[in-house]
Amino acid sequence: MSTKSFVFDVPVEGHYQTQWQAPSNIALVKYWGKHGQQLPLNPSISFTLSQCVTQTAVNFSPRGGEEEAFDFLFDQKKQVEFHPKIQQFLERIKPFFPALEGYHLSISSHNSFPHSSGIASSAAAMAALALCVVDFEKQFHPDWSREDFLQKASFLARLGSGSAARSITGPLMVWGQSEAFPKSNDHFAIAPDVEWHPIFQDYQDTVLIVDKGKKKVSSTLGHGLMQGHPFAAQRFEQAHSHLEKLKSALTTGDLEHFIDLTEAEALTLHAMMMTSNPRFVLMQPNTLAILHKVVDYRSQTNRPLCFTLDAGANVHLLYPRQDRSPIMDFIQKELLIHCQQGQYIQDQVGNGSKKI
Ligand code: PMV
Repeated sequence: MSTKSFVFDVPVEGHYQTQWQAPSNIALVKYWGKHGQQLPLNPSISFTLSQCVTQTAVNFSPRGGEEEAFDFLFDQKKQVEFHPKIQQFLERIKPFFPALEGYHLSISSHNSFPHSSGIASSAAAMAALALCVVDFEKQFHPDWSREDFLQKASFLARLGSGSAARSITGPLMVWGQSEAFPKSNDHFAIAPDVEWHPIFQDYQDTVLIVDKGKKKVSSTLGHGLMQGHPFAAQRFEQAHSHLEKLKSALTTGDLEHFIDLTEAEALTLHAMMMTSNPRFVLMQPNTLAILHKVVDYRSQTNRPLCFTLDAGANVHLLYPRQDRSPIMDFIQKELLIHCQQGQYIQDQVGNGSKKI
């Protein structure tokens, strides 16, 4: 696909202020491995969440000669640790919006979830920032449809953090070219025109905080591990096939297959990290204790509770809304003892970003 249509090279003027909220997402088929400029080596699909969100306000003002490109407040405080990521984002989007260089961006962000909870917040953060930038650009495109707007937002968000491409709409987003989804591509994520089974509309995600610490393996290092990985080719083939099968489970509401594929993906992601060079074990004893208890609980009760994992020790528990009461009972009695300070976050599938 040519990315020419994403370039907006027209001088712009004036002040602009906007504010967007973008959600986090949890991948079912995992994106692990990238090439070029944040292009995925395999397609992925995720649930968009509704409670874990970033709200970002940006004030665009013409930039004075010596002025910095941006200033940034997180929860009303200066946070220089985020500067390199924002700087990199602005550098990467420059070729697609050169006029932005003439602007100073005053950025102010807030997360609905604890910033140091071990939950990846970059997807929501980069999506919210990208949405603000695209909203600024939109004034100069009176012809843009909602779809054009969302595509450009996903395209720019991807340049900030790959998985951020999927934090734009919902309830499910696909990123990366896949035979199973005709309009899918590597440059931006799409919300496929598929009628998902209603059980997934408000599917629950209870995030168990096993480790609140910073990520042990940075995203860039992690994705890099797939270059030359001994199982890379098989893994990428498997992701394509899992995505196709998951599409069918998500449309028919076949929870048995949904669970089988979701857990296989989570463990494959970790298996890739355990077998790369260098290798990493990101699960902790408490992660494993939770996984075992979840599998036992499912076989004893027949309730459709399953797990998925990010590149870390925390566990996302996925289950239908209708089973919430007994499953929450089980989580409270059996699983919270494995969480750091008994912490967890209750979330559910949502429909995406909004202007606030
Ligand atoms: O967006 P990144 O570069 O932080 O990568 C995210 C990778 C996983 O969370 C492990 C999987 C995914 O698809 O979200």
